[in-house]
Amino acid sequence: IETSCDETAVAVVDDRRRVLAHALFSQVDAHKLYGGIVPEIAARAHLERLDLLIRQAMGEAGLGFADLDAIAVTAGPGLIGGLMVGLMTAKALSAATGMPLYAINHLEGHALTARLTHGLAFPYLLLLVSGGHTQVLLVRGVGDYQRWGTTIDDALGEAFDKTAKLLGLDYPGGPAVERAARNGDDSRFALPRPLRGEPRLDFSFSGLKTAVRQTARSVAPVSDQDIADICASFQRAIADTLRERVGRSLQRFLHEYAGEGVQPTLVVAGGVAANQALRQALQAMCDASGFRLVAPPLKLCTDNAVMIAWAAAERRRCGLAADSLETAPRPRWPLDAQSASRVGHGKRG
Ligand code: KG4
Ligand code: ZN
Repeated sequence: IETSCDETAVAVVDDRRRVLAHALFSQVDAHKLYGGIVPEIAARAHLERLDLLIRQAMGEAGLGFADLDAIAVTAGPGLIGGLMVGLMTAKALSAATGMPLYAINHLEGHALTARLTHGLAFPYLLLLVSGGHTQVLLVRGVGDYQRWGTTIDDALGEAFDKTAKLLGLDYPGGPAVERAARNGDDSRFALPRPLRGEPRLDFSFSGLKTAVRQTARSVAPVSDQDIADICASFQRAIADTLRERVGRSLQRFLHEYAGEGVQPTLVVAGGVAANQALRQALQAMCDASGFRLVAPPLKLCTDNAVMIAWAAAERRRCGLAADSLETAPRPRWPLDAQSASRVGHGKRG
C-alpha cells in the first residue's frame, strides 16, 4: 500500500520478482486546479479510494488475504494525512488477518526497484529525482544505504513545477516544460548552474527558479517563443547541473570500489526521469565514466505500490523483523541514520 503523496496505489508482488497485481489511482486532476498538491485533498482522496483499490488488486491477483504472507505499507517520508490513511488501513488488515506488517520507507522502495525489474546486484548508485526528492544514494544492501547527496532546497521536480507555474504552463510542470522546450533556443538565456565546482555531492535548485522568474520579468510580456526559450534554457541548465553534480558521485563510486570487480551502475528513478533531454545527458555522463545506466519502466520509476511490496519481500528474505502495530507514520525519515543529523538535509527527509 502506498499513499505518501498524490498516488493511491496497491500491488501484490511475490518474492520471485513477479507483479501479480498493480492498481493505481493518480489524484493529479484533483490538485491541478491549485497548481500543486494540497495535502488535505490528498488525504481525503486516499481515504475514498484505498479500500476500492485493495479490492481491485486482490481481484486482479486472483487471491484472498489468506494467500498472502505479509502486508507492506509506506510509513514515510511523505504527507502525514496520506501516510495515516495507508498505515491505519494496513494495520487494520494485519490485525484482522494476523499477517505481519512491514512499515516501509518510501525511499527504500525506490532504492530496491531495480532489483525487481533488472535483478541488479549490490552495490549500485541511485539517482532519485521526483517532485519530493532529489538525492544520490549508495545502495549497498537491503537496509544498507548511504546518502551521498541531497537537495539543500527544492526538489528537482518541484523546480520544474514552479517554473511551469510562473510561466503559466500546466501542472504537473515537468511534461509541460519539456514540451515547450522542444521549440526553444537553449542558448538564449544564461541561467545559473547551482553549486557548480563544489566538492560536496549535494544539489540546489531554488536559485535557478529565481533566475527563471527574473528572466521572465525581463522579457515581459512573454510570448510563446519566450516561454519555449526559457524552458529550453532551464532544461539545459538542469542537464549541465546533473552531469556535473552526479558526475562527482560516479567518480567517488569508482574510487571506493576500485579493484573490487564491481560493475559500476547508476539507477535513475522518480518522475523527472521521464524527461528525455535529461535522460540523454545522464546517458552521456554514464558512457563517459564507464557506468551502466539503468532506468526501470516509468510506471515503476514514479510512485507505486509494487516497490513497497517488493521492499518488504526483500526484507523478509533477509530475515529482517516485521514491524509492530504501534508503528507511527514519519513525515520525515531519511534512509540512513547518518544523514538524519546532517545540516541542510533537504525538505522531505
Ligand atoms: O515520482 P513522481 O511521479 O512523484 C513524486 O514526486 O513523488 O514525480 C513527479 C514529478 C513532478 O514534479 C513532475 O513535474 C516531474 O516529476 N516530471 C517531470 C517530467 N515528468 C514528470 N519533470 C521533468 N520532465 C518530465 N518529462
Ligand atoms: Zn517517490
